[in-house]
Amino acid sequence: MRLPLPLVLTLLVHQWAIASPPTRRSYSTHDYYVLEHNPLAGATLAECAQELGLEVVEQAGELANTWLARTAKLMSGISTRTASDGVMDKFETLRLRSISHQGSDISSRTDEQLEARRIASSIKHLSLQTPRQRSKRDGSHLERAPPPPATTDPTKTSEAIAARLGFVDPLFTKQWHIVNNDNPRHMMNVTGVWEMGITGTGVITSLVDDGLDYRSKDLADNFDAVDSYDFNDHTDLPTPKLSDDHHGTRCAGQIGAAKNDVCGVGLAYDSKVAGVRILSGPITDVDEAAALNYGFQNVSIYSCSWGPPDDGKSMEGPGYLIQKAVLNGVENGRAGKGSIFVFASGNGAGSGDQCNFDGYTNSIYSVTVSAVDYKGLHPYYSEPCAANLVVAYSSGSGKQIVTTDVGENACSSGHGGTSAAAPNAAGVFALALQARPDLTWRDIQHLCVKTAQMINPEDPDWETMASGQRYSYKYGFGSLDGYAYVTAAQNWQLVKPQAWFEPAAVQINNGTMDDKDYMSGGQPIVRGGVTSTFTVTKDMLATHNFEGLEHVTIRVWITHTKRGDVEVELVSPSGVKSVLAAKRDRDRATSGYPGWRFMSVKHWGENPIGEWKIRVSDQSEEGHSGNFLGWRLMFWGSTIDPSLAKNYLLPTKDRLLPSVEETDTIDIPIPSSTKSHPKPTAGLPADHGEAGGESSKPAFPPGQDDTKGSPSATMTPTPDEGWFSDMSNLVSNQKWFFAAVGAVVLFGIGAGVFFWRRRVARRKSRYSSLADDDMAMNSVSRGARRPRAKELYDAFGEVSDDEDADEETGLRPGGHLGSAGLGFHSGFLDDDDPPTAGPTPIYRDEPEENEEGEEGAADHHDVSPEARSLSPGSGSGDGSWEHASQTR
Ligand SMILES: *[C@@H]1O[C@H](CO)[C@@H](O)[C@H](O)[C@H]1NC(C)=O
Ligand SMILES: *[C@@H]1O[C@H](CO)[C@@H](O)[C@H](O)[C@H]1NC(C)=O
Ligand SMILES: *[C@@H]1O[C@H](CO)[C@@H](O)[C@H](O)[C@H]1NC(C)=O
Repeated sequence: MRLPLPLVLTLLVHQWAIASPPTRRSYSTHDYYVLEHNPLAGATLAECAQELGLEVVEQAGELANTWLARTAKLMSGISTRTASDGVMDKFETLRLRSISHQGSDISSRTDEQLEARRIASSIKHLSLQTPRQRSKRDGSHLERAPPPPATTDPTKTSEAIAARLGFVDPLFTKQWHIVNNDNPRHMMNVTGVWEMGITGTGVITSLVDDGLDYRSKDLADNFDAVDSYDFNDHTDLPTPKLSDDHHGTRCAGQIGAAKNDVCGVGLAYDSKVAGVRILSGPITDVDEAAALNYGFQNVSIYSCSWGPPDDGKSMEGPGYLIQKAVLNGVENGRAGKGSIFVFASGNGAGSGDQCNFDGYTNSIYSVTVSAVDYKGLHPYYSEPCAANLVVAYSSGSGKQIVTTDVGENACSSGHGGTSAAAPNAAGVFALALQARPDLTWRDIQHLCVKTAQMINPEDPDWETMASGQRYSYKYGFGSLDGYAYVTAAQNWQLVKPQAWFEPAAVQINNGTMDDKDYMSGGQPIVRGGVTSTFTVTKDMLATHNFEGLEHVTIRVWITHTKRGDVEVELVSPSGVKSVLAAKRDRDRATSGYPGWRFMSVKHWGENPIGEWKIRVSDQSEEGHSGNFLGWRLMFWGSTIDPSLAKNYLLPTKDRLLPSVEETDTIDIPIPSSTKSHPKPTAGLPADHGEAGGESSKPAFPPGQDDTKGSPSATMTPTPDEGWFSDMSNLVSNQKWFFAAVGAVVLFGIGAGVFFWRRRVARRKSRYSSLADDDMAMNSVSRGARRPRAKELYDAFGEVSDDEDADEETGLRPGGHLGSAGLGFHSGFLDDDDPPTAGPTPIYRDEPEENEEGEEGAADHHDVSPEARSLSPGSGSGDGSWEHASQTR
């Protein structure tokens, strides 16, 4: 009658260990052992464990009869050794006791000895598990270190998980972003969520992209046709038609690829995916706006892996209609809980690009996602900025993303870029929304802030925020962890409705910008920088029903003859600094910042009361110059009294300086325009998968001119103080004065040589098309500029069959295709100095007339009113990114 009980016990232990998710190890409080059990020797696993003082944790992977067990460490001084040895000692004692009377008369054996023998013979193997020390002090060490032990927990390898959860998808074990056997710390960590029964059921994600191949056997069952549409060809189904229309399908696979025998699985493999095709040809603003709201009561998440060009010189945002659509989405989508817009940060970091120059990623309404690679390092393409919320896994350090591809049974193992990071985040949100469909768009962001995991703590890019949490321009709040995110969502208390307040703009020395974007006045930006302050009072918060700071947005009005030299940073009352714009060598635009809006999440949770300081400085000695005209802060957070919450109305005149009171919000008529979004892969460097990442460099190293203590650095303008008084201060500092004169003379000589060479260069080039191009690069759309879109699309095309596209859309641009292509295509990877004929981008923004000798230098500083009025669209211009929104 002894048999049934052990059998039952064995079964119980077995069942329990198989059914529950792998538990977290706690090496600080417990010692872990592996015990191999022989069930035929007479003692049960439970009896063996009890005899040794061990607690069975779970089966060791798929190894039959092999178990992970643990015992609490003794907590006194030299304890650790004692505890470890204690278990091994017990086993040794048991073993000795079981054999001590061998050979003697059987009748003389005591029950105790028989018992010892029964148990000892049931333990085939026992060993202490020592975690290996991993050193991650610096990158080089990391590179040379052996791969971390993949077998620390054999139940958590992709093979073990596939077997346990019944995955037969042939590429599942290659999907390291789901289970990373080599670097278990670096993966989306969703399998624990699946084991809780959460797989995305009932949630729809829309891939706003270049189509979605619903004929793929991996996607067919999860395809939502009702909420899909093709805005390029205006057909119901988002069929990929161009030969390189594979991006949307790959992104969709990351989210909704089914659990079946095709390729791998999506992070939310029981969720639905819809496709909205907008990237395969020109579309209008109004269509883009419609696309971002398509099916927005049914669709929860819009995954968007595209944006303005990642060329390190563009500064563009969504036009007015598109901004309205996004606002409509968050206010009215999903029955008022708000559409979740997920945007990829961009692949232009290698060209010095930053996501705060992209009006989609620096919108408070989008979750901005950057990339982190297979080893948890920062891939060199992934753009940093203060608007980055989180990072998700993507290509780099030798690995890419494995997912579904266009075709019935086609898979891709070469997906990557921030393009692939965004859908990984969307997949995690889809899981969370199954668990908590009531989460609002802001809860989704709060949960990111709260649950993101710090990676590479030694990275100098991490800085401590006022809340005590750490933030990095490269990683945002850290890497998105599916398990941490969803379990936090399950117990999440919804945030109160949104509140905001926007004090009037601070004007500096009568700086103004009119409704034609003409800017005047302002204070010259001197070497050490110009600072200005604004004080937020307790009253302001109370008046605006405001508490709990989330986003800060900052409009700036700056003129400059080389925008890329300008650095802008914001310092909060508690001294936390947000770098909003760092130097961008390639950005030679002369149009400055005509009310451009930056965004920072680095002040999340901070008390906004006190003095905010902005510092605008010139990070170059090239002799370019400009004025700081004004700035305007805006604070976003939650309401004190939810019953007083109201919807935000999109203003139409908020780019004017000084601020004007907008009594009505009647939309001013803004022409709609057509534009084309180039292929998401166009800006992605070819080596995005192979190139090693890093975790040792700050995203924005302090500028060499960061002379905060110098007298010129702290010229806080006051309303009554003219810049002339400041100027006289400077001149009275003779050293400075003579140094400046010397610099001007040297610059003049340099400029002379420069312009002489430029004239030579121009004679060899077809310059005529360039002026046109200038405007495409920098102007707010003027309707007439439209047809250029397609030509830029061509410029980006990596594949020669763009010809097909042209036949289909009938939008073959005439004339200057070659030159348009030159600037962009080469701009991504090479320096902006292609040896081929034709004007180089370096000349794009130079006024055509100012070519002559030393005078040219002076002329540089005088941007004509016309040039200024053609400033790039910032937030509220329409069609501001008509010329080719580069994608990720
Ligand atoms: C990853 O998920 C597992 C459950 O599967 C959980 O125990 C672990 O804590 C998660 N990792 C992090 C960093 O939260
Ligand atoms: C939402 O889904 C329902 C049911 O699938 C469908 O009938 C309806 O047309 C959808 N609505 C929208 C706006 O897509
Ligand atoms: C700004 O404008 C006021 C009123 O027009 C004028 O008195 C003042 O001198 C101006 N300040 C500067 C620095 O131009």
